[in-house]
Amino acid sequence: MINRRKVLLTGGSRGIGKAIYEELHNDFDVISPSRKELDLSSLKSIESYFKDHNNFDILINNAGINIIKDIESILDNDIQDINQINLIAPLKLIQNCVQHMKNNKQGKIVNISSIWGIRSKEKRTLYSVTKFGIIGQTKALSRELGEDNILINAICPGFTATDLTMESLSKDELQKIEAEIPLKRLANPSEIAKSVKFLISDDNSYITGQTIVIDGGYTS
Ligand SMILES: NC(=O)c1ccc[n+]([C@@H]2O[C@H](COP(=O)([O-])OP(=O)(O)OC[C@H]3O[C@@H](n4cnc5c(N)ncnc54)[C@H](OP(=O)(O)O)[C@@H]3O)[C@@H](O)[C@H]2O)c1
Repeated sequence: MINRRKVLLTGGSRGIGKAIYEELHNDFDVISPSRKELDLSSLKSIESYFKDHNNFDILINNAGINIIKDIESILDNDIQDINQINLIAPLKLIQNCVQHMKNNKQGKIVNISSIWGIRSKEKRTLYSVTKFGIIGQTKALSRELGEDNILINAICPGFTATDLTMESLSKDELQKIEAEIPLKRLANPSEIAKSVKFLISDDNSYITGQTIVIDGGYTS
């Protein structure tokens, strides 16, 4: 039997991460730890997870949180939490995964950013700091890891029809957003997952350091 590539996927319990899991699990050995097994808000939890789990061929940093607040309302804890989960944890996961990829002279990393990582919007200061930041990590690391044939890219989903998105928008808000999107609808999570699958597949042998925007034309 051919050894299936081993994928570490964060945030696979719901939303876009669940769609990524469903898209990949027939072809890859996908490990998607629960928050109990790997709590990204804790450096200790990250350190202890990698004591027992390693040799990942592919890493997908998908888990993330959003805190929507105006500048005066932002608390120190908000700054700490969102930077830890959205920016520092992905960096620590990459640090823990690269040695195995370097040994094999191949690896793939996908970071999930957002349209709010290429442009922004009021009350999105915290979220945009992290989502612009993860694109910076992606670009810097593509230069550093390229000589070991490790390809790293960022995907920026637009409005995506996850349970959370649908629950947090009123019917009127949803209609307004859809009207502003050239394709006149939200993304289905599987449409994000298919692009992740392409980027980590053998078919992608030359795309690295890029930011792929999947937003139905919203930012165009
Ligand atoms: N939905 C959109 O419209 C949209 C648009 C652009 C970008 N994105 C980005 O896409 C990614 C996925 O978004 P989503 O909407 O699918 O998210 P979601 O439905 O809110 O799910 C978030 C996932 O992250 C996990 N997570 C959160 N905090 C964690 C922690 N401290 N430790 C471990 N896991 C944690 C959650 O685990 P639990 O189940 O344990 O809570 C869950 O699996 C995020 O990076 C988000 O910023 C989403």
